[in-house]
Amino acid sequence: QPARRSYHEKVLDHYNNPRNVGSMGKNQQDVGTGLVGAPACGDVMKIQIKVDPKNDTITDVKFKTFGCGSAIASSSYLTELVKGMTLEQASRIRNTEIAKELCLPPVKLHCSMLAEDGIKSAINNYYSKNPKAKATDLGGT
Ligand code: FES
Ligand code: FES
Repeated sequence: QPARRSYHEKVLDHYNNPRNVGSMGKNQQDVGTGLVGAPACGDVMKIQIKVDPKNDTITDVKFKTFGCGSAIASSSYLTELVKGMTLEQASRIRNTEIAKELCLPPVKLHCSMLAEDGIKSAINNYYSKNPKAKATDLGGT
């Protein structure tokens, strides 16, 4: 009978083997950078996306998170989730999906919220650099 652990095994896996850690040049035209913080605990997360402008698809993702295990696991899982998605699909990701996948307890829900805020912030940054992409996603020309 294994001892009851405070972190779920999926959190530990992402914490011990985080996917897509790193940085991209934030001045590149096709890179969107999101930097968000959780006021409750002071943790900080940076999410970066590289976008193929031909189809508004996320071709690469990187993250750097200074925070607790759940925040690191949430950002690691998020990067796996959004790779290959369109910006429109990625903007619809909810923190509850991340929390469910990682079995985060209620006190750690704000850690997954950081990941949702992070991807939204990265997408908004990309749109601010590429206003035409947003017009296309919203059905304009
Ligand atoms: Fe709040 Fe991460 S600093 S537990
Ligand atoms: Fe604050 Fe995890 S992000 S405790």
